[in-house]
Amino acid sequence: LSNALALTPQMGWNSWNFFACNVSEDLIRETADALISTGLADLGYVYVNIDDCWSAASRSSEGQLVPDPDTFPSGITALADYVHAKGLKLGIYSDAGKFTCQVRPGSLFHEVDDSQLFASWGVDYLKYDNCYNLGIDPKERYPPMRDALNATGRSIFYSLCEWGVEDPALWARGVGNSWRTTDDINDTWVSMTTIADLNNKWASYAGPGGWNDPDMLEVGNGGMTYEEYRSHFSIWALMKAPLLIGCDVRNMTAETFEIISNKEVIAVNQDSLGVQGRKVAGEDGCLQVWAGPLSGNRLVVALWNRCSKAATITAKWEDLGLESSTGVSIRDLWQHKDLKESAVTSFSAEVDSHGCHMYIFTPGMAAHSDI
Ligand code: GLA
Repeated sequence: LSNALALTPQMGWNSWNFFACNVSEDLIRETADALISTGLADLGYVYVNIDDCWSAASRSSEGQLVPDPDTFPSGITALADYVHAKGLKLGIYSDAGKFTCQVRPGSLFHEVDDSQLFASWGVDYLKYDNCYNLGIDPKERYPPMRDALNATGRSIFYSLCEWGVEDPALWARGVGNSWRTTDDINDTWVSMTTIADLNNKWASYAGPGGWNDPDMLEVGNGGMTYEEYRSHFSIWALMKAPLLIGCDVRNMTAETFEIISNKEVIAVNQDSLGVQGRKVAGEDGCLQVWAGPLSGNRLVVALWNRCSKAATITAKWEDLGLESSTGVSIRDLWQHKDLKESAVTSFSAEVDSHGCHMYIFTPGMAAHSDI
């Protein structure tokens, strides 16, 4: 969508994966505080997104959406002011149907009223879900909210959550700033790897202004190992997925923080070229190479071991689209160091089970002046 937003994938936090319906204005304020105090906001995580369950069960007598008086007693404007004062942005959630997935009022046929209300509250981002959609084609249900948001005059990021039902990558570029390509993620290795493969299929449709969305991060929620979460974060970054933290940032472990605060991996995700990396080798096996171009004639390369034992994975120049005998300098984004070798036809490394190594390759340059 050409609304000057999403030139790189959106970064921030969303309440759903960890809190589900246990949301409140206190939680949102404390999360905003934590994004600042941990330094995550400075790394680019600026959207604080409230998911489902912020709204009362029914509209007001005037037909307006109303924040739940028990959990959001001060209202959304006060919350937006709080978040904005910290230099952050506020996201909200609604549904292109009669109800949201948790059966709060939906915005279908209320697009103009609801978008004006969101804009008047100072909302910066709308996630727009797909429940209770009355069987109407999403290509008819999602554009009216785009037009209504645009007509408010406020700059509002528009995130389509259609779950990939009608292959939104094929039609959503002109409709939203991102579109979900799959069903909901859950906090397991099987879910995460399955979703990565499904999202990979749509790589060529992503780019500045509109991104494939393989759903939010589960890093820090406890269902995967450290290696698995590092894989999750690496592959999401490489795929130019939205980086929306889904854990309780008020109470993260040092390992969780280390993963989601890796500046070099974040820089891959936010690279100005905006090309989604993809699986380039190992399609049918569990030893895989994922790669993609970056600005400055560089490449991101991930060696991903989805097998149950440690193994050596080799990235071949032909799979990376490099001319044979091209010298490259190699930077390891998890070790935070330049490798001494300047490989010429392939590069190999031993990768732990369910682990992922991630590198930037810069062709035509030696890693060290002594090579
Ligand atoms: C759907 C969406 C999720 C979340 C829930 C909330 O399942 O896909 O991301 O927003 O609804 O009810």
